[in-house]
Amino acid sequence: MELKLRLRILLFVFVAGFITFVLVVSSASGSEDEGEALYKARCAMCHGADGKGDTKAGKMVETPDLLAERPWKHGESLEEVAKIIRDGAGKMPGAKGRLSEDQITAVARYTLRFLDPENQ
Ligand code: HEC
Repeated sequence: MELKLRLRILLFVFVAGFITFVLVVSSASGSEDEGEALYKARCAMCHGADGKGDTKAGKMVETPDLLAERPWKHGESLEEVAKIIRDGAGKMPGAKGRLSEDQITAVARYTLRFLDPENQ
């Protein structure tokens, strides 16, 4: 093989790899932003931006304090949190049909931050 051709192939592989890397990184941070935006739009009215449930609507439906009431009654894994978001529980309405599975996962992932003392 000619050296020039080899170099071209090498360059191509490098550039393709770099583009893939950028896409993966930006889509990962994109879903994090999406989770936060969804939380603020659909959950914070009850749970509060800080997760304490200390809002007018939150008090009306007796929203648990996600920081203080541990462990969470409905589970603390990503799947369990996604399930309660999807199906609802007690006075919390389910998001099934209104949020896609990807959106449910994104907002569930964001909600799990309230379990981490560093975010409290
Ligand atoms: C209308 C008010 C309301 C909205 C909106 C709401 N919740 Fe809730 N949430 C509640 C209430 C009330 C409970 C307690 C349910 C029960 O156990 O009876 C709860 C429970 C939870 C729990 C489980 C806590 C535990 O101790 O097990 C999680 C996690 C949660 N909500 C996350 C969310 C997320 C994420 C959203 C947005 C997609 C959301 N909630 C939207 C009122 C609300």
